Amino acid sequence: MTVMTKPDTAEARAVVDAPALAPNATRKPNLISVEAAKSMDLARMTDLFKAHLNPGQLHFMKLLGFHKVKIERAEGMYYIDQNGRKILDFFGGFGSLAFGHNHPRILDARRKFQEERRHEIAIAFMSQYAAALAYNIAQCSPGDLDMVFLGSSGSEAMEAAIKVAERAAGPKRPKIVYAENSFHGKTKGVLSITDGALYRGEFKLVDNTVRVPFGDIEAIENAFRSDPEIGVIVLETIQGGGGIVQAAPEFWTRLRQLCDQYGVLWVADEVQCGLGRTGRFYAFEHYGVIPDVTALAKSLGGGKTAMGAMIARREIYMKAYGTPKSAMIHAAATFGGIGEACVTSIEALNILYDEGLIDNAADVGDYLLDRLNALKAKYPKIIKDVRGRGLMIGLEFHDFSQTLPMVLRPVVSMLDDKLKGSLSGFVGALLLRDYDCLVAFTEYNRNVIRLEPPLICGREHVDRFVDALDSLLGRGIVAIVKDFVKSQVS
Ligand SMILES: Cc1ncc(COP(=O)(O)O)c(C=O)c1O
Repeated sequence: MTVMTKPDTAEARAVVDAPALAPNATRKPNLISVEAAKSMDLARMTDLFKAHLNPGQLHFMKLLGFHKVKIERAEGMYYIDQNGRKILDFFGGFGSLAFGHNHPRILDARRKFQEERRHEIAIAFMSQYAAALAYNIAQCSPGDLDMVFLGSSGSEAMEAAIKVAERAAGPKRPKIVYAENSFHGKTKGVLSITDGALYRGEFKLVDNTVRVPFGDIEAIENAFRSDPEIGVIVLETIQGGGGIVQAAPEFWTRLRQLCDQYGVLWVADEVQCGLGRTGRFYAFEHYGVIPDVTALAKSLGGGKTAMGAMIARREIYMKAYGTPKSAMIHAAATFGGIGEACVTSIEALNILYDEGLIDNAADVGDYLLDRLNALKAKYPKIIKDVRGRGLMIGLEFHDFSQTLPMVLRPVVSMLDDKLKGSLSGFVGALLLRDYDCLVAFTEYNRNVIRLEPPLICGREHVDRFVDALDSLLGRGIVAIVKDFVKSQVS
């Protein structure tokens, strides 16, 4: 169906309520106002999404029933939709909502910054806000992880990370090791070390990469030993998109030793697992090791803005960009270190400690793991595994392609490929429809749902969520599949 969203211009211009203009003056196109955007209905949103954003993505939203929800507000642990329904957020924006939605202290800091007419773009002059944020990040980081590059996304932070490491490793060691099932972003450099055919499409990527299984120290040692051109290794400390996958603790100590032995620089991607989510500021701190370079993003923006940071050991940074001649090679982009975003992140880091959110993540995370493990014991044929650390938890279901009763198989086979054999889509859709709970999916393992609630999450939220899941799983697989299929036709 063709969607007409740009009405005939002559007609559109006629309805614009603008002051009379000189004959050759530029006329305002038919623009939607902020207030009209806020009050737009679902049908119009769908049309515009289809016409101007991503028609294919709508297919998946429809599959899960997410296209029926218009979020009007968001507060703390909840989204509030057009019908006043409060949706408990255990998705947490893939880890970008550590402080919950619209934390009052973050709102105040931003409001005050605006009222004081502070400046945003800081290319000509030094920014006191960027300087303070970089200092704060260095304070939160162990060892000499002291040098900070500010950008506006996880991908940008990770691009900066592989660039600083590549320059410090030197031109004779241009190869980068990365892991199977890794996710480091979608810009072209980091896409080359993101292990997903889905995202890689058929792009021409950089070819100086070496892939190893995640957590396999022998494979890494073999690679380092046999290829002296390897200069950098990049790993998520806990794989998020891979399905919340952790390596053994001894893997990390051995990795550090091997990197030192072979002179390879280790880049730890903490975009999703960092900033307190696992019960430590950085997840690698659980293992008593320090990487050469790391990256944060997501919750660093306090859930209100886009902020990413690359953090490098001072020695590495100075090697790469320490001279006036090299300083501008990777200086911040136009929006790197922008004022209000920095102030938001400064406040966010203060809140993280003032409210004890890192300790809360550890405590409530343990409670959530315990309760989910009890569910696993109750539903051994449905839940295959529960894993994670702090408030970064994966719940893996058994693949039911072979166990679903014959009568239901033709029905399921008519659904999208992604849903076949996988309970996570069904469970996610029904948790939202029937229990007002939101969970996330994983890129590479369709049997896993990801639980990354805000770090302000309390035991009462865990109880509400796990009780809902218990009630849903109690229906049994056949009823869950039937309920889901019914929801597709209603
Ligand atoms: C581990 C990891 N690295 C990098 C990124 C890229 O971050 P962004 O989406 O902000 O570009 C993500 C995003 O999900 C991530 O999970």
